[in-house]
Amino acid sequence: MINPPVKELKLTRPPPSPFRRHWLLAPGTVFLNHGSFGACPKPVLEAQAELRQQMEAEPVQFLWRRYEQRLEPARAAVAHFVGAKPRDLVFVTNATTAVNAVVRSLALRPGDELLTTSQDYNACRNVLVEIARRACARVRIARLPFPVCSEDDLVEPILRAVNRRTRLALIDHVTSNTALVLPLERILRELEARGVEALVDGAHAPGMLPLNLPKLGAAYYTGNLHKWVCAPKGAAFLWVRQDKQARLQPAVVSHGNNTHRPGFSHFQDRFDWAGTFDPTAWMCAREAVRWMGRLLPGGWPEILRRNHQLAVHGRQLICDKLGLTPPCPPGMLGAMATIPLPARFQGIAKTARIDREQLLLYDRFGIEVPFMRFKRTDGRCLRISAQIYNPAAEYEYLAAAMQAL
Ligand SMILES: Cc1ncc(COP(=O)(O)O)c(C=O)c1O
Repeated sequence: MINPPVKELKLTRPPPSPFRRHWLLAPGTVFLNHGSFGACPKPVLEAQAELRQQMEAEPVQFLWRRYEQRLEPARAAVAHFVGAKPRDLVFVTNATTAVNAVVRSLALRPGDELLTTSQDYNACRNVLVEIARRACARVRIARLPFPVCSEDDLVEPILRAVNRRTRLALIDHVTSNTALVLPLERILRELEARGVEALVDGAHAPGMLPLNLPKLGAAYYTGNLHKWVCAPKGAAFLWVRQDKQARLQPAVVSHGNNTHRPGFSHFQDRFDWAGTFDPTAWMCAREAVRWMGRLLPGGWPEILRRNHQLAVHGRQLICDKLGLTPPCPPGMLGAMATIPLPARFQGIAKTARIDREQLLLYDRFGIEVPFMRFKRTDGRCLRISAQIYNPAAEYEYLAAAMQAL
């Protein structure tokens, strides 16, 4: 519910972008958190609703007889979008599931090490910790700085943490809390030179950054489609280099382990079915890639460029208004930006799952924007997202609302 005090504070909510009509986002809200769960446009949801109708009309025909018929065009479209071959790509429900599959498939020995960074995603870190615990292995954490001045500041700590026991490095393509685009090609090249395989957590990357997965040099890459590709929730992929496919098990073992389908790899057999579920989000991935790609005359490259420029512009507006210094060069951003909060918001202990100011911004001003805290320093930040439906005025409105808090 959006409350009237907005008027009393004389803050006028900016008019929505013309693109906003394609989304179901609640009228009167300013949605600056595309990054957390994405938001799916109406035409893609309509395509999903149509598929669900078909599934409920003919459950067996849909989920058994014609399953692959609907899945394969989606796989081909997503593979093409990320520069990969369809045979090397499987759908998963989300990046967390993919990280589970890869890490649980490692044959770790006592003393082995799994490498991650201090800016990784908590759920994925938990996978490393649990699997390492079971194998008497250990998790080594490369401490990445924030604020950060240069790529070297991010590459060097990772390389310093590598040793001869390192079995796998989990590297984010875009970090969640700090919204940094890591210099992935460089990191992967250096890791390869040291004989270390990488699992890239690209949860935010598809639809935010141009991707050519085979060229990157990772062994494994997972990306969400429900974030920046705007597919329905539950659509993500895992790409695996061919030499790594044979030993990989999905997070959920099902029929595929002993049921081969002609024309599919065993890797695809294992991943394509994880028990009865609603596969329509996967099947709509092609529609999401296609629909978003037609929104602007310059297609996806224009969306990527525009969202990046908007994130940089929005960050600058907020920093100027609140007297803050941007914590990284603009070139290290994609379509999100994390901004340290002004001094008066620092040093306030967390008392609930969601910070009070985040709730106040929503309840008083209709602004959805995430606040975060860094574990070691308890430094507080907020993170803005920039998607096609966000006009620049929404960042000014956020800055004004922050001043009024
Ligand atoms: C870097 C990173 N990794 C993994 C995830 C997990 O994504 P999901 O919840 O879709 O598995 C997120 C979610 O925001 C993320 O930011």
